[in-house]
Amino acid sequence: MTSIEMWYVLLIIAEFVVLISAFIYAIFMLRSWLGGSPYVGTKKSNIDHILENIDIPSGSRIYDLGCGDGRFLRSVANIQSIVGVGIDINPIVIFIARFLTRISKLKNITFIHGNIISADFSDADILYIYMFPALIEKLENKILTNRLKPLMVISHGFKIHYLNKYFKKEIDRVTIKTYVYYIN
Ligand SMILES: C[S@@+](CC[C@H](N)C(=O)[O-])C[C@H]1O[C@@H](n2cnc3c(N)ncnc32)[C@H](O)[C@@H]1O
Repeated sequence: MTSIEMWYVLLIIAEFVVLISAFIYAIFMLRSWLGGSPYVGTKKSNIDHILENIDIPSGSRIYDLGCGDGRFLRSVANIQSIVGVGIDINPIVIFIARFLTRISKLKNITFIHGNIISADFSDADILYIYMFPALIEKLENKILTNRLKPLMVISHGFKIHYLNKYFKKEIDRVTIKTYVYYIN
């Protein structure tokens, strides 16, 4: 085989690898959609803005429901000594979240691959949620009755109508709002 032929074969193999990776990625992104909400990470600038506008007591147990790559928990871990738990139905984003958290050397954050509908987050002090309303709707019972202590709920992008009477504040950005509720 000449060196040109060898390069040609290598190029075809590389194309296959890219195609197969894209296919696997698409399948797992579809998993997020089917779970109830597509994967879109909260912008870092929005996370910073949210954290400037809320008070997170140290020692809080924070869950990010549908955590994606875990960026919210990593931002919180950097500024507060908290315990963070991220839950996501998509194994690829959980893999990325664990990888990024490991290289950031953060030991107070863990990630669980699972469906939030069946997950137990009753011991949370704070919930961070950035998901489609139809999925948030299904958490009503867990959030309102299945909790062990007062709970702050931070909902990025969407109001939670069943928490109306617990509404505390709205954090405004030009493109997106965040709604904070406090249930005691
Ligand atoms: C809009 S993204 C938010 C990601 C992350 N919270 C952030 O703000 O950067 C929604 C995430 O919810 C996840 N998801 C969708 N349905 C889910 C379900 N039933 N259980 C757990 N996670 C789910 C998706 O895989 C996706 O990563």
